[in-house]
Amino acid sequence: MNILLLGSGGREHAFARKIKTSLKVDQLFIAHGNVGTKNYGINVALNPFNFDEIKRFVIANNIKMVIAGSEETLVKGIHDYFINDKELRNIVVIGPEKKAAMLEGSKDFAKSFMNRHNIPTAKHKTIYPESLQNGLEFLKSLTPPYVIKADGLAAGKGVLICKTFEEAESELSQILLHSKFGDAGCKVVIEEFLKGIELSVFVITDGVSYKILPTAKDYKRIGEGDTGLNTGGMGAISPVSFANEAFLEKVEKKIIIPTIKGLVDDQISYKGFIFIGLMNVNGEPYVIEYNVRMGDPESEVVIPRIKSDIVELFEGIANSNLKDKTIEIDERFAATIMLVSSGYPEEYKKGKEISGLNNVKDCIVYHAGTIDSENNTAILTNGGRVLAVTAFGETLKEALDTAYCNVDKISFDGKYYRKDIGKDLLNYYDV
Ligand code: AMP
Ligand code: GLY
Repeated sequence: MNILLLGSGGREHAFARKIKTSLKVDQLFIAHGNVGTKNYGINVALNPFNFDEIKRFVIANNIKMVIAGSEETLVKGIHDYFINDKELRNIVVIGPEKKAAMLEGSKDFAKSFMNRHNIPTAKHKTIYPESLQNGLEFLKSLTPPYVIKADGLAAGKGVLICKTFEEAESELSQILLHSKFGDAGCKVVIEEFLKGIELSVFVITDGVSYKILPTAKDYKRIGEGDTGLNTGGMGAISPVSFANEAFLEKVEKKIIIPTIKGLVDDQISYKGFIFIGLMNVNGEPYVIEYNVRMGDPESEVVIPRIKSDIVELFEGIANSNLKDKTIEIDERFAATIMLVSSGYPEEYKKGKEISGLNNVKDCIVYHAGTIDSENNTAILTNGGRVLAVTAFGETLKEALDTAYCNVDKISFDGKYYRKDIGKDLLNYYDV
């Protein structure tokens, strides 16, 4: 079977590497991919938002399965486009239809869904420009810090944690009255602040049955000790120590089962990944957010821990027989460290030569923002997040030590990485 994977980050490199191990795959195409993905398939310069262009490519190349890496194409309705086109109807799309993708595309939609189906989440209120006053009243009923979220997709920047009432009031007015986040902020969700420790749980579903993938924790802030600006993610580890059997049982019973049942009850078809961002509050799981795709850099630790044939699991999703498939997980720990360009997540330089990749041992180096030099003699940086170095270990410490030792072998001008990935969890393990 020929497969088209949409995306170009570390997540897509992790998918491409895994997909290519399946005996079910003939040709893999990645649009547009990066230097890493081309080891596993053919990078193609398709615009993931131009569905007509994708259609022409899919037909010309006899593609039978399309995998959406990021949320934007799903929220824009790529799956619906395929279903509604008689030439594409029978082609598998991994990733939910537009209506279901609203679980990520609209915080208000996700909150209503969770309330309707009794899924534990922070108390909230949705506010519109005309109801700003109600927003201020609601804020007064909460204790600081205050959580303010633009409703729509805002490139990971739409969540603000405000320390004071005055700051929250000012942000509310900036978003609702002065379009701080453009259309994404035409409504705002104000939430109670949940104090606890975060982790993510990933599920694949055919819409009725589901399989739970390994847990992961990512490190979102640019600075050590979780300080500074939010990024796409500076590293991740899997599994998460405090997510023991008892906690995961609660997650399944209180969150995963009601989520799948809620989709069925609401007649929302869902075929793909559900990434559930959770807060563990004194041993109780609360949903912080749903994403309708895999995480990045979580994929760089979760995907390599899946031993089963991922394409077979995708077929289970498509053919609604996921319950008949088995999923085998590598028991070892995995850790990934993101190497980023200095300045990220703000302004940074591109085009810096990367050296030392050949010296890396016992690690997988996933490419994120990389490009070949014009004469193909060097690999250059081409993004804020450049490479993710993943290692395995019998303990978390072993995985982290191997990853960090190899991080030091790779150089590029302006290389920056956090030195404390996973450190907060080391005490949970027998290390
Ligand atoms: P989100 O984009 O919804 O995942 O939010 C980004 C980050 O903001 C999360 O990863 C949390 O660290 C934090 N956050 C979001 N909602 C809450 C909340 N209700 N309480 C505490 N922290 C939150
Ligand atoms: N690492 C967070 C995300 O993929 O949304």
